[in-house]
Amino acid sequence: MKVVVANDHGATALAKKIVNHLKERGFEVNYLGTDTEDSVDYPDYAYKACSEYLKGGYEFGVLCCGTGIGISMAANKMHGIFCALPQNSYAAEKTKEHNHSNFIAFGGRIDYPEDPLHILDAYIDAVPLQDEKYLRRIKKTVEIEETQKLG
Ligand code: RB5
Repeated sequence: MKVVVANDHGATALAKKIVNHLKERGFEVNYLGTDTEDSVDYPDYAYKACSEYLKGGYEFGVLCCGTGIGISMAANKMHGIFCALPQNSYAAEKTKEHNHSNFIAFGGRIDYPEDPLHILDAYIDAVPLQDEKYLRRIKKTVEIEETQKLG
């Protein structure tokens, strides 16, 4: 089971913890960096990780920046990417069950109410629900993008 991980300089330490945790859980991790705290631009890392994910063969992806906001916003500009930025493990579980998110984002400078690794575990251990209402809402979400493209 493969996972792709990328981050900017605002979350290098957290991303490295996440990579180790994923490996401990038995995942094969494709870590795309940045692996230093030298300033980089988060959209570049969102693009790298999402492009890699879209080649196929990945279970999900993890993106981190200072707040998690910029990198998740950039990721969600890509067709086929559903990147969640959960506040806690409840939201992490629900985004997998209800939104079928294929990416999860974290903020390296955020003071989370619980260990971010627990939040990640809640996401990993949740199972997407096949309920018709959840699928309908995802389809409607995709349709917003398609409708906008058509003008
Ligand atoms: C980088 O300084 C910071 O802006 C970035 O990591 C992120 O928080 C943006 O959303």
